[in-house]
Amino acid sequence: MTSNPVLPATLSAEALTEPGDWLLPRHLGSNAEEIAAMLEVVGFPSLDALVDAAVPENIRLRRALNLPAPLGERAALDRLRAIAGRNRIFRSYLGMGYSDTVTPPVIQRNILENPAWYTSYTPYQAEISQGRLEALLNFQTLVTDLTGMEIANASLLDEATAAAEGMGLAFHARANPEARRFLVSGLCHPQTIAVVETRAKPLGIAVTVGDVFAQPLDPSFFGILLQYPATDGALLDYTAVAAQAKAAGALVIVAADLLALTVLRPPSEFGADVVVGSAQRFGVPLGYGGPHAAFFATRDAYKRQMPGRLVGVSKDAQGNPALRLSLQTREQHIRRDKATSNICTAQVLLANMASAYAVYHGPQGLRAIAARIHFLARLLAVGVAQLGHTVAEAPFFDTVRVTVGDGDAILARALEQGINLRRWDARTVVIALDETTTAADVDALLAVFALGKKAPTVAELRDKVAPGLPVAFVRPGEILAHPVFNKHHTETEMLRYLRRLELKDFSLATSMIPLGSCTMKLNATTEMIPVTWPEFGRLHPFAPTEQAQGYAELFAELEAWLAEITGFAAVSLQPNAGSQGEYAGLLAIRDYYEARGETGRDVCLIPLSAHGTNPASAAMAGFKVVAVACDANGNIDIADLRAKAEAHRAVLAALMVTYPSTHGVFEEGIGEICGIVHAAGGQVYMDGANMNAQVGLCRPGDIGADVCHLNLHKTFCIPHGGGGPGVGPIGVAPHLVPYLPGHPVVRIGANAHSGPVSAAPWGSASILVISWAYIAMLGARGLTDATKLAILNANYIARRLEAHIPVLYKGHADLVAHECIVDLRDWKKQAGIEVEDAAKRLIDYGFHAPTMSWPVPGTLMIEPTESESKEELDRFCEAMIAIHREMEAVAAGGDRLDNPLKNAPHTAAVVTATEWTHPYSREAAAFPKRELREHKVWPSVGRIDNVYGDRNLVCSCPPVEAYTD
Ligand SMILES: Cc1ncc(COP(=O)(O)O)c(C=O)c1O
Repeated sequence: MTSNPVLPATLSAEALTEPGDWLLPRHLGSNAEEIAAMLEVVGFPSLDALVDAAVPENIRLRRALNLPAPLGERAALDRLRAIAGRNRIFRSYLGMGYSDTVTPPVIQRNILENPAWYTSYTPYQAEISQGRLEALLNFQTLVTDLTGMEIANASLLDEATAAAEGMGLAFHARANPEARRFLVSGLCHPQTIAVVETRAKPLGIAVTVGDVFAQPLDPSFFGILLQYPATDGALLDYTAVAAQAKAAGALVIVAADLLALTVLRPPSEFGADVVVGSAQRFGVPLGYGGPHAAFFATRDAYKRQMPGRLVGVSKDAQGNPALRLSLQTREQHIRRDKATSNICTAQVLLANMASAYAVYHGPQGLRAIAARIHFLARLLAVGVAQLGHTVAEAPFFDTVRVTVGDGDAILARALEQGINLRRWDARTVVIALDETTTAADVDALLAVFALGKKAPTVAELRDKVAPGLPVAFVRPGEILAHPVFNKHHTETEMLRYLRRLELKDFSLATSMIPLGSCTMKLNATTEMIPVTWPEFGRLHPFAPTEQAQGYAELFAELEAWLAEITGFAAVSLQPNAGSQGEYAGLLAIRDYYEARGETGRDVCLIPLSAHGTNPASAAMAGFKVVAVACDANGNIDIADLRAKAEAHRAVLAALMVTYPSTHGVFEEGIGEICGIVHAAGGQVYMDGANMNAQVGLCRPGDIGADVCHLNLHKTFCIPHGGGGPGVGPIGVAPHLVPYLPGHPVVRIGANAHSGPVSAAPWGSASILVISWAYIAMLGARGLTDATKLAILNANYIARRLEAHIPVLYKGHADLVAHECIVDLRDWKKQAGIEVEDAAKRLIDYGFHAPTMSWPVPGTLMIEPTESESKEELDRFCEAMIAIHREMEAVAAGGDRLDNPLKNAPHTAAVVTATEWTHPYSREAAAFPKRELREHKVWPSVGRIDNVYGDRNLVCSCPPVEAYTD
């Protein structure tokens, strides 16, 4: 038989059992031939030889990771379907800040399931991010309008951490430095109380949980936290409480329900200084706890203390309105341990879904939804009262508290009917209705409360319902009057509005996004598909765990795989961003020392090159930050580390070290660094944001770290969503296992003794399917191959560029790790060109700029990841080289102020204007490469004026006239 390459005579047994839909060759950007070509440029005969030279021998893992054999794409989805099938969707009326909701399909398909929205990054390059910046501005407008506050941010991680951030703001803003007490209403959601208590402890804040109407306030209190409506549904008039707080000098923080605020008096009217909450019920699936967008609104006076990102209106070089991130000087990148908070990645994708939900429904639609829920709640209340139960006296919006004879009998009967009710105490249950509740649901609830007797029905009760909310609580007047909330109410209009926004933005659907430290790799479609399955999306986070057995299986496998990949004893999936992982890991260290009676250990050493979240998290965890110098090669200065560890020996708690370093090199001395810290009695915290250079090659646990966070939204394929969601799990060595985060409502981790750091027990649970699928489909070899190629790609770019632009730091054998920093600092002197000019010029060439001026001002940090093809890397390098030539031309006598770099990016309006006065052609401006004539994504605005935006701060939608001539 002759062998035919097209139709071979026989195939292997494996080829016949699997469809051959392996993700690995699709996940990796280059094939064997292209890899060989890149290796030749870098000067190594094989990938293994390159890796052997780049990664220090003494930390190498010389065995394959112990992970299951990889699954094909279809097989992974089949497995996930089986897992999803083990989750059971009951009707959950559990409330506590989580409500089932109807995600409008136009939003699900065009935002949540759309790579153009979910693969973009935090809008650092504002000129190519105007779409999501507009959606975020809508979110801020929505929040300020409904809360009645003056300013709102562009989302936080969840309601509980937002409340804790509110406490932090009040604490830092307090006039009386002796004030260290914080009053929390006992009617706040339990997870909010627990997270606030966790956050308070390291800061030395004394939390009192109690009845805010009975607790006298004096100047020792700096703030109070109220829930509106309260967790049991009660609508309470807080006017007197707020007045008393103010008289004592305390700030008033209100955790509020955004949908209720469409019909209720806003908290601003009874004296709130800060209003926080969750926007989940604005169309974002429950997802077993997350991800969802929290909001944070305050008075203008506190804008500089406000945590998180803030979108503001500025103007571009042509004077047109343009959006950008404002007041960035508040953030950790600049203020380090003095930053307002450690929040970096937030919940942009979910905030954008929530704002789109408000745009789609508009003020009347939202009020109709609220009115319907409220009416059904009143029907329910009348019905249960008719059945002889006692409904709580306080007015309510959507949550009814009922005292019954035997609460457990009601709960048991409800469970038999596939219904989850909240147990308040032995005799009391609480029922929270939501947008998805129907008359049939209320009938089913009444049948439960009838306990076998004949139940009244909605049809019988409809005309017997008492009037709704007392007038004192009802919000008069209009809401959401801005045009954006009043015109996109048909699906056609909404589709086009979303598409218009999408087209203004760069995402991975446009081109590579080589942001160093951000790992913008492929987010494969198969990984994303299960996220919107109802079996993952419609579970309430506090549903009985028997109903979430699919999730339990997924978590257990993912935890085990991540523990194997990192070399740790256990993993917590709770932290919902890298910053929260840092905080959770540092708390574990703190709690460990406390348990040993070593409470004096409060110094945290942090290299100057560290990401800003490191010192900000350390300060929040109550540590004093001591900086460690870096040497001329960008490595930790070991002599300085030794000296600092010795000087603080008695009080040393930890070193935070990023590996490979944020300078993009595998430091040879990492083993010695860990040894120095351990010898001085401290713990090593490894920031694993750069884990993409380690997976399969070395493990933080083996290197000597005691705890490490991972950014699943970098290394493990969760997309960045334009600035969140994220997941920042931590792995810990055996002695820290007892100090992993716990939870007050759902028992997690048999050993977890510490308080929760997130509202939900497993943080952003629904997106963990993405990382599960990635690991399941790549397997040990695939993950390791991905790491090797990430290292090759970075070195290939470094080699190609260094002939033109210096590469700042290198490690052993003149190699970088998975990213490289190119140095443009000299060009300011030579040609008046700033790094920002080069970054903006890249937009004209069709690229998103690399990370700019971090960790070294005046440089660009490039991280290509393994998923970009050699062709894309070459295109990028050629663009960089061409820009370098443009800089040379300016240095050689060109106009230092009027050149393609200074004027970049060029909009279509600019290059087609009647007048063209520049000393270079329109063609050079818009089409500096021939290929751009075939495919060009135009920036929708020109260079944005940052200073103007901060000086004239506008953080909600300007009137439409601002955009017209
Ligand atoms: C090195 C490093 N550490 C920590 C973080 C913080 O992670 P997150 O943004 O998820 O809070 C980042 C994020 O960019 C990072 O690059």
